[in-house]
Amino acid sequence: MSQKTWGGRFSGGTDSRVEAFTESISFDKRLYRHDIQGSQAHARMLAEVGMLTAQEAEQIVRALDDIGADIDAGKMEYKISLEDIHTHIERALIARLGDTGRKLHTGRSRNDQVVTDLKLWTRDAIDELDSLLADLQRSFVESAERERGLILPGYTHLQRAQPVLAAHYFLAYAEKFQRDRERLADCRKRVNVLPLGAAALAGTSLPIDRESVRAKLAFDSVARNSLDVSSDRDFALEFVFCLSLVAAHLSGWAEEWVIWSTTEFNFLDLPDAFCTGSSIMPHKKNPDVLELTRGKAGRVIGALQQLFLLVKGLPLAYNRDLQEDKTALFDAFDTVQGCLAVAAPLVSQTKLRREVIAARIEDGFLDATTLMEALIARGVPMRSAHEVVGNLVRECEQRKCRLADLPAELFPAPEVKAALGVANSLAAFRSYGSTAPAEVERQLGEWKERLK
Ligand code: ARG
Repeated sequence: MSQKTWGGRFSGGTDSRVEAFTESISFDKRLYRHDIQGSQAHARMLAEVGMLTAQEAEQIVRALDDIGADIDAGKMEYKISLEDIHTHIERALIARLGDTGRKLHTGRSRNDQVVTDLKLWTRDAIDELDSLLADLQRSFVESAERERGLILPGYTHLQRAQPVLAAHYFLAYAEKFQRDRERLADCRKRVNVLPLGAAALAGTSLPIDRESVRAKLAFDSVARNSLDVSSDRDFALEFVFCLSLVAAHLSGWAEEWVIWSTTEFNFLDLPDAFCTGSSIMPHKKNPDVLELTRGKAGRVIGALQQLFLLVKGLPLAYNRDLQEDKTALFDAFDTVQGCLAVAAPLVSQTKLRREVIAARIEDGFLDATTLMEALIARGVPMRSAHEVVGNLVRECEQRKCRLADLPAELFPAPEVKAALGVANSLAAFRSYGSTAPAEVERQLGEWKERLK
């Protein structure tokens, strides 16, 4: 008898080149745990509705556990002639249980099975990412705590703009990764809808109980339309979009720290254990981890494009193109997981060079905007205040000095000079969400509570 699950209709074998071309076992074998989990729930449900005896279901469940243990132990022999993980496991079951094993696929198709496996896998992947993202947030919050009190130059256009507390800087990243976690949690809601029971595309005439399978696999609800189920990969696209945004956030941070680690900036002391050297230039300490984090973002965003191009022209229900979803999905996840695993310790172990930062903190007119605001607070119209301070800055450029060095008589109200200097400037902030010391302190407390 043919080894193919669909062999009955065919005479003769499949061309070996076609087997090599159409296989997915080389990459879907990592779904085996989830495939077994789904099959066990399906078998138990079949017993509940009388399609299997309780004893048959028990045998199937136990044999599937054994097959899982064999795969764990590296004892499964993979063959491209068996195409995918679903077929390998079903064949192994039949080899153990004979006719009982041949009943497992009752009321089910690989079309709903593969989406079920992928959703179970994605759900676990989301949970894993959530915890990695929380670890990274904790690293940023610890740095915020460690560097509290230190004032950094804040940049726009990478030009010195206004002073910010280092704690405010680190907490900005905690916010970005919080949105990523919320996005993933939202994506999880659509992942957590049970596909199994849609069968090939139209459902089944057999008396399956989808609600029972839903409860066993801890899905929130059952997918309503069987025709939609077998073509739905929205969840994979959404998930890879979430991953792409995490990757983009990591990449922006990495770029910033590459710049901050240059001799020109010299803001950071990157830990040796997270840098690499040069084979020819003995003095080099290169930020390769940050560079690769930046580079790998392209790969993740590429996976998103790949998935869009995959689904954009597909008619309803299953088409074999969909087999190609997995490489993009897995690679995007693995890549982001890899980046997060090094990002958290890198952040924790990186020290800001406080003296270097402090030595030039009064450069670049970081206090100019606060000076303007001090004038506004005294009733000067905003546009006039802007012009006055602009003229003062021009004066400083000519005299090669700072605003605080200008004689008091050049200021429209001499007492506004009290707003000058980076420390005074920073102390003047007060709006919600600003870098005002009390505001940052309050938010730091909230973050520590949130990430406990
Ligand atoms: N290997 C296939 C995949 O990963 C499994 C589903 C196959 N279904 C089918 N009707 N050929 O998509």
